Amino acid sequence: MLFGKRKSKDNSRPETESAGAAVAGAVEEAAAEGLSYGGGITVKEANLHYGDFHALKNISIDIPEHHITAFIGPSGCGKSTFLKCFNRMNDLVPGCKVEGEFTIGNVNIYGSIDVNELRKNVGMVFQKPNPFPMSVYDNIAYGPRTFGIKKRSVLDEIVERSLKQAAMWDELKDRLNKSALGLSGGQQQRLCIARALAVDPKIILMDEPTSALDPISTGKIEDLCLELKNDVTVVIVTHNMQQAARISDKTAFFLLGDLIEYGDTSQIFERPKDKKTEEYITGRFG
Ligand SMILES: Nc1ncnc2c1ncn2[C@@H]1O[C@H](COP(=O)(O)OP(=O)(O)OP(=O)(O)O)[C@@H](O)[C@H]1O
Ligand SMILES: [Mg+2]
Repeated sequence: MLFGKRKSKDNSRPETESAGAAVAGAVEEAAAEGLSYGGGITVKEANLHYGDFHALKNISIDIPEHHITAFIGPSGCGKSTFLKCFNRMNDLVPGCKVEGEFTIGNVNIYGSIDVNELRKNVGMVFQKPNPFPMSVYDNIAYGPRTFGIKKRSVLDEIVERSLKQAAMWDELKDRLNKSALGLSGGQQQRLCIARALAVDPKIILMDEPTSALDPISTGKIEDLCLELKNDVTVVIVTHNMQQAARISDKTAFFLLGDLIEYGDTSQIFERPKDKKTEEYITGRFG
C-alpha cells in the first residue's frame, strides 16, 4: 500500500475546502510540530545490514532539493537499498538494521515520526509500473482519499492537477473511468508518477523507472523528470548511463555498498576522479 491510514481525527476535515488546502491539511500536524520535509536530503555515516550482510557502508551524502540526482553502479551495489532508506521502506524487511543520520528538510526521519507522513512527502515509483486494478481516476484519488478527502469536486481538482503535472491530462481526460490496467506500459508508469504527485510530495524516488519501457516512453518520463524538478526533488536509480548524463544534475556512483564518488553529473562523466568510476562509466565493468 502506498500510504497508510491517517489518524482518525484527521479524517473529519470539513468537505468545503479547496484541493490544495485539503492536501496541505494532511501535513498540518507535522507543521504544527515545526517539522518540514521541504529541503534536501542529508545522510551522515549510514550503515545498513541485512542480518550479517553489510549492504551499505558508511555513506554520507547531501542531495540538494529541486535537482535530479542519479544513483548508478553495478547490480547489487546497494542503489535500491539506499533509495528505500529515504522513505523507510526497509522497515518492512525483517533483519534489516539501519544506522546513521538521515535528515529530510528538518526532519530526522529515523526519529519518532509519523511514517505515513514521511511516505506522503517522499513518494516512490518502481521499475515495473504498478497501477492498482481500478480506474485511472481512482488510482490518482487513492492517496488523497486515504488522507480523508472525500468531496468529489476536490478529488476532481486533484486528479486533473496531478495528470496535468504528469503531462497526461490530454491523453487521459476522456478515459478517467477506464481501467488503468488497459493503459500501455509507458502510460501506466506515468500514471504511477501522477499517483505519487497527487498527495503533493516534496521528493519522488524512482527506481529504474524506464528500464521496462521503449525509447519513446522513456523520453517522455525523462522530460517529465526535468519538468518535475521545479516542484519536487527527484532521486533516480538507473543502469542507463546516457539517461543519467541527460537528465541528472548530480550523480552518485556506488560499488559493493560503498559510495565511491559523488559530484556534478558533468564532472562524474567527463572528469571522474576515481579510477573505478571511470571504468564503470566507460563500460569496462558492471
Ligand atoms: N531483503 C534483502 N535481504 C537480504 N539481502 C538483501 C535484501 N535486499 C537486497 N539485499 C542485498 O543487498 C545488496 C544490495 O541490493 P540492492 O537491491 O540494493 O542492489 P541494487 O544496486 O539496487 O541492484 P540492482 O541494480 O540489481 O537493482 C545485494 O547484495 C542484495 O542481494
Ligand atoms: Mg535495484
